Amino acid sequence: MYKLIKYFLFKINPEKAHYFTFYCLELLFKFPFAKNISLKFFTVSNPKLQKKIMGLTFNNPVGLAAGFDKDAKHIESLHALGFGFIEIGTLTPKAQPGNDKPRLFRLITDEAIINRMGFNNEGVDAAVERLKKIKIPGLVIGGNIGKNKITPNEEATDDYVYCFLALFDVVDYFVVNVSSPNTPGLRSLQEKEPLKNLLNTLQNINLSKPKQKPILLKISPDLNQQELDDIIEIVLETKIEGVIATNTTINRDGLQTNYLEVQQIGAGGLSGKPVTQKSTEIIKYIAVKSNKKFTIIGVGGIHTPDDALEKLNAGADLVQLYTGFIYEGPSLVKNINLKLIKE
Ligand code: FNR
Repeated sequence: MYKLIKYFLFKINPEKAHYFTFYCLELLFKFPFAKNISLKFFTVSNPKLQKKIMGLTFNNPVGLAAGFDKDAKHIESLHALGFGFIEIGTLTPKAQPGNDKPRLFRLITDEAIINRMGFNNEGVDAAVERLKKIKIPGLVIGGNIGKNKITPNEEATDDYVYCFLALFDVVDYFVVNVSSPNTPGLRSLQEKEPLKNLLNTLQNINLSKPKQKPILLKISPDLNQQELDDIIEIVLETKIEGVIATNTTINRDGLQTNYLEVQQIGAGGLSGKPVTQKSTEIIKYIAVKSNKKFTIIGVGGIHTPDDALEKLNAGADLVQLYTGFIYEGPSLVKNINLKLIKE
């Protein structure tokens, strides 16, 4: 069934296809019976899938990665597709349009995507208002936060603090995104000193609250060993809850898509199958080197239940999907969960 839907969707411009899919889904789920059928069909309920981690209970360990529902507009529909958790964002303090279009490209031969969306979002306050109205028992919601493009790096902390405070009462965990390649200079916030300062600031605010929320750091797959060692040190020192590994890569090695076509697409983050192995290696490295002292959420090129299992076996506690969800459809969520029950 999804093969047929994908056939038509892949004939449309990728960004338009994204919004068209949501439009159709929302239209369909206006009929409560359709949503209930979807929920029943895609949700795998089994105590074996339940994970208690970071003080939260996940009904299943398969989540939707950041960037798919940036503005928290479709949480109920996405929940009906079987996800155990949904990460909204990246949100910034002020609304911003993102980069010029076209900014989203399919590399079909590689089962990959290149995007340079650039944190297009309607601003954190609009998302907060939407989240206030959503109550889905058992669904964990993460808030992924970043900085506005026009904010200089020296003032970036203020942007993260703004988003952190705004979202505090409406999300279950936080993700500090300093690893998107599409906001100029953002990734230099991954360097030791700025990162320590940023995370310490957020942790201090967190500690001043009556009940703390887990904070995770989303990292790039392009970090070298020394940089990963620094990340481990910083996570342990700042006592944040853990990391999400990984974001998209700027590396273009090993692609099967025609070189000129890739060159023509230009800058952006690559996701999907070409990052599967790299992100799993990073998860494994961090898990081993840190003696698995903190939570790891594994993301990057999960297109099959085995890909998910490999990440969990490498040390991830939970997994997230983005590109695999586009190429394989919602049955991927279900099939991963069914596989995990059998393991
Ligand atoms: C992303 N990703 C992303 N990550 C993030 O932290 N904030 C964001 O706003 C976005 N936006 C975004 C847009 C698009 C179009 C894509 C394809 C990806 C990265 C995403 O969450 C994930 O980390 C990577 O895509 C790797 O996983 P997959 O796609 O290979 O499963």
